[in-house]
Amino acid sequence: MDQDLYEPARVAAVFDRCSRRYRGWSSLASFGVIHYWRRLCVAALGLPRESTACGVDLMAGTGELWPHLLARHPRLGRITAIDISPGMHAAAMARLHAARAGRITHLCADMLRTDLPDGSADFAVSSFGLKTFNAAQHRVMARQIARILRPGAPYALIEAADPDGWVLHPLYRIHLDRVLPLVERLFLDGAQDFAMLGAYTRGFGDGQSVVDALAEAGLSVRVRRSFGGAALCFHGHKPH
Ligand SMILES: C[S@@+](CC[C@H](N)C(=O)[O-])C[C@H]1O[C@@H](n2cnc3c(N)ncnc32)[C@H](O)[C@@H]1O
Repeated sequence: MDQDLYEPARVAAVFDRCSRRYRGWSSLASFGVIHYWRRLCVAALGLPRESTACGVDLMAGTGELWPHLLARHPRLGRITAIDISPGMHAAAMARLHAARAGRITHLCADMLRTDLPDGSADFAVSSFGLKTFNAAQHRVMARQIARILRPGAPYALIEAADPDGWVLHPLYRIHLDRVLPLVERLFLDGAQDFAMLGAYTRGFGDGQSVVDALAEAGLSVRVRRSFGGAALCFHGHKPH
C-alpha cells in the first residue's frame, strides 16, 4: 500500500480538486445508498430527539451529515465542522441554507492535530472520513475523539469497508476498482481522484484498526454492519 495515500497534504489536495462535484459523485457512485448510511450514523449516536447538544462533525466534507442531524434533532446546538480541505469548506458554505448557517462553525484543520478543548463536545460524528487514515492515524484520531468528548458523550463514525466474504464482494470490487475509475476518466476530463476510493477501501479492510484504536483510547465500541459490511458504523461512548 502506497503510504503517501495517507499524507494529510495529499489528501487535502485530492478533496480540494473533488469539492465541486463531491456531493453528486458520492450519491451516484453509491446509487444513493450513502444517504441511508449517513442517516444510520446519526441514528447510532442515540441522542434524544429533542437534544440541544453541541458537537463535532469530523472530516465534515461539504456538510453531508448536517441535514440528517438537524432533521432528526431539530433543536440541536452548534456543530463544529472540521475538515482539512479549504475547497470542501467553501463548497459547504456555498450550499448552506440560511437557517443552518448560524449553527455551524467551520474549522479548516487537520483533525489529527486540532487543539479543540478537552471535554468540549457533547457528541462526535463522522461519515466516510476514516479510510484516508492508516492504522497509526486511526490511533491518533481515536485519542482525539476521546479527548474532545465530555465524559458520557456518544460518538458514531461510519465508513465504507472491504467486506471480504460478502456474497456481492466481487461485484463491489469491480464497481470500485473498474467501473467508477472508468466513469471518472470518461466524464470528468480524465481525472483520477474519485478513483482512489478503490485503494482507500482496500486499505481500510474490515475496519479492525478503528475498533482497536477506539478501545485503546478508552471508548466503548460497538460495530453495526450494513450491506454485508460494505459500510461499518462504529459507535459508543466516552465513559463517565
Ligand atoms: C470522503 S469525504 C467525507 C465527507 C462527508 N463527511 C461525507 O459524509 O461524505 C472525507 C473528508 O475528510 C477530510 N479529511 C481527510 N483527512 C482529514 C484530516 N486529517 N483532518 C480533517 N479532515 C480530513 C477530507 O478533506 C474530506 O472532505
